[in-house]
Amino acid sequence: MKKLKVMSIFGTRPEAIKMAPVILELCKFPSEIESQVAVTAQHREMLDQVLRLFDIRPDFDLNIMSEGQTLFDITSRALLGLDKVLSAAAPDVILVHGDTTTTFAGALAAFYHQIEVGHVEAGLRTRNKFSPYPEEMNRRLTGSLADLNFAPTETAKNNLLREGVDSDKIFVTGNTVIDALYKTVRADFKFSNELGRVDYDDKKIILVTTHRRENLGEPLRQVYKALKSLVEEFPDVEIIFPVHKNPKVREVVREELGGLERVFLTDPLDYEPFANLMNRATLILTDSGGVQEEAPALGKPVLVLRDTTERPEALDAGTVKLIGTNREKVYGAAKVLLTDAAEYKKMAEARSPYGDGHAAERIVKVLLWRHKFFSERPEEFRS
Ligand code: UD1
Ligand code: UDP
Repeated sequence: MKKLKVMSIFGTRPEAIKMAPVILELCKFPSEIESQVAVTAQHREMLDQVLRLFDIRPDFDLNIMSEGQTLFDITSRALLGLDKVLSAAAPDVILVHGDTTTTFAGALAAFYHQIEVGHVEAGLRTRNKFSPYPEEMNRRLTGSLADLNFAPTETAKNNLLREGVDSDKIFVTGNTVIDALYKTVRADFKFSNELGRVDYDDKKIILVTTHRRENLGEPLRQVYKALKSLVEEFPDVEIIFPVHKNPKVREVVREELGGLERVFLTDPLDYEPFANLMNRATLILTDSGGVQEEAPALGKPVLVLRDTTERPEALDAGTVKLIGTNREKVYGAAKVLLTDAAEYKKMAEARSPYGDGHAAERIVKVLLWRHKFFSERPEEFRS
């Protein structure tokens, strides 16, 4: 039987982290599958960090990133580059992940070439077109183009069903981020460099990440002012903040938090130390999507610096709270968790609403079954 040519297309750090387990799984079937990787490199250094960690060598690299890139830049460069890649490689199916602009451009390019589209992490919704922006529309548009939807949860599946997606095209697999996390976090992990000198036993560690486009500018400034108040008030608090590469984030971070005692600002961390740092943190403040999925599995309370979330499962589980970016609100919510042991305990129970670490296996099984490498529908998808 002819091999199935599967091309994974991605461009940013989170897509790489979440596609890595899928790519590693595809490579376990060399007689059935020819796996290819095309990166747009919408991110450069932050993407390369992940590629190195998982030893993934792209077959195609569009290298599109530029400083201050607009959505038009990313979309047009990715689309034109992928046109050539898809013409040259002619895959049978492409896989895209989540909701970045690379995701949407990848799905659109494949549609123009009439190539089957598999959408990993399908069905997340806020139903607010501009929050998060542009991710909500990226994932909805990708969903319209997808032939196979790999939904991480039942909630995501129901979102797709409500939009009229045929149930035959939806597979609840869990989120591949949990696969990556379980491969990476170890109780005995040793940090190197400055991270190795942090007093994890006696200090309360607040881990922070921020990057959302709709938070750039004043909202982030308010968050950073709240962080400053917290370190000033609590001498046992240490903030560790791996700062996103976006110059618009870095500038405000430097202005508000540069040079402060017990505020450790660092470049984005490799996934391995970052995931293990989450595991040692007291509390996490973030506007990230992926971190909202990882932290509950580690039993770490997360204050989400956004007004909406497409990840209600962690809210329901109680590990995550939506607090937005208002200075007083951020300060107040963090203070409660630093001072009220009962409130902290309520949020700090480990639960994993996003999966069991086997999502990638399920995705690859579906691909093999749909392309007739075996005739039986995979057991977990029989109703
Ligand atoms: C992008 C995604 C967002 C995702 C996030 C993950 C879009 C529109 N946004 O947002 O959905 O949550 O990635 O982090 O798809 N930069 C570097 N080096 C890097 C990465 C970024 O210098 O390795 C700088 C560049 O100046 C770049 C800027 O950051 O222009 C912004 O990057 P961009 O991909 O446009 O937006 P993100 O906010 O990273
Ligand atoms: N992450 C990382 N290093 C860091 C900060 C985050 O490896 O310094 C990981 C994090 O564990 C998660 C992913 O990056 O898996 C989230 O990426 P990001 O917040 O940039 O994007 P989002 O998930 O919001 O799309």
